[in-house]
Amino acid sequence: MDSIVVTGGGALSGEIPIAGAKNACLALMPATLLSEDPLTLTNAPRLSDIKTMTTLLQSLGAEATGLQDGQVLAMSSHDLTSTRADYDIVRKMRASNLVLGPLIARFGHAEVSLPGGCAIGARPMDLHIHGLEKLGAEIELRDGYLHAKAPGGLKGAEIALEFASVGATENIVMAATLAKGTTVLTNAAREPEIVDLVKCLRAMGAQIDGEGTSRIEIQGVDRLHGATHQVVADRIELGTYMLAPAIAGGEVECLGGKMSLVEAFVERLEAAGIGVEETERGLKVSRGEGRVSAVDVTTEPFPGFPTDLQAQIMAMLCTAEGTSTLNETIFENRFMHAPELTRMGANIDVQGGTATVTGVEKLRGAPVMATDLRASVSLILAGLAAEGETVVSRVYHLDRGYEHVVRKLQGVGARIERVKA
Ligand code: EPZ
Repeated sequence: MDSIVVTGGGALSGEIPIAGAKNACLALMPATLLSEDPLTLTNAPRLSDIKTMTTLLQSLGAEATGLQDGQVLAMSSHDLTSTRADYDIVRKMRASNLVLGPLIARFGHAEVSLPGGCAIGARPMDLHIHGLEKLGAEIELRDGYLHAKAPGGLKGAEIALEFASVGATENIVMAATLAKGTTVLTNAAREPEIVDLVKCLRAMGAQIDGEGTSRIEIQGVDRLHGATHQVVADRIELGTYMLAPAIAGGEVECLGGKMSLVEAFVERLEAAGIGVEETERGLKVSRGEGRVSAVDVTTEPFPGFPTDLQAQIMAMLCTAEGTSTLNETIFENRFMHAPELTRMGANIDVQGGTATVTGVEKLRGAPVMATDLRASVSLILAGLAAEGETVVSRVYHLDRGYEHVVRKLQGVGARIERVKA
């Protein structure tokens, strides 16, 4: 397994291009199952998770090919041969469960493996199942698979989500586009990836209103047609790279970044003393002399502070002046980066869903281990300003969500390289 070696050094400067959003693309790709016409996605990120979703769609008989070295995904589910999403694919990537809603809506049946837990939590699917059953699907859990059928087709319904689940919102909205009648989904997730999915579905002929708010209304239609859609910029990659100058010092412009994607995150950065400026090309982040100030962070569904940036901002707070409290309210086990940062000299006390970080002057490079996608990149960020060398192992986690992380950080002066195993 490869590792990434970061040598702590001076301030960064330059620009980092932000790719298309992994979590938008993983919902947009299953949308091809809703229509027999081709769906083309541009600005698609080149990531292993996207390859996994491509393999899953191909296993169903869909055509899914990456053009222009993957930035364009051309897909068609005209000749589907299966509606079974196998465990060996789903266990690798939870987002595979997003084929469930589209398969039931278009074909009236589906067998989708339960994803099983993952490093950051149990991540059940009860909200997905409840919503799809309200639309008329009959879903039974048998031998680890969800066996779903809707022989008479789906019917619009009023659905209230107990929790603003991103995946459940996506599965229900996609299914409702082909249901008979009107569906009103309340306490819906408001993430930009949901807004992007709805834009694409509307381009395919879906009738949807309210995306980005907690109430989404869908008028079912008989069929959807093909479309071409540009994937929205990745706000989590954006926030991650904004933290590079915030931690190492200097000034970096993140190209393609938009303030509207990261407002709650930027508010915390500015409270810590980091400068953020919106330019016509993206977001410019700068940090002057001296340490950043400690700030408290609580993760929430959008538009609150994103859980997917909690590990990364913790890396900055390890050397802040003062004590910061981070409350992780979305996942039950998302502090696995804390013991690794502690190996680098951080002072972190984790009690349940709360981590208390007492800032130290400097971290010291050390061999550390990546445990999940966002934890792994937080270790790289910490290594940018640590004394000496940090060796991050198990970097396959990184390849799931960060395209060319070494090249992008080298481009702004970081001393970082990937070492083949
Ligand atoms: C999406 O996961 C993202 N993944 C996650 O990003 C992100 O952390 C998460 O939303 C929250 O923003 C993709 O979009 C592919 P949820 P998802 O359903 O849809 C509980 C990354 O690093 N829950 O909003 O799975 C669940 O256990 C990944 O890119 C239920 O209890 O998130 C969790 O505690 C990590 N029952 C919470 O809700 C359900 O039926 C949030 O889950 C569904 C969810």
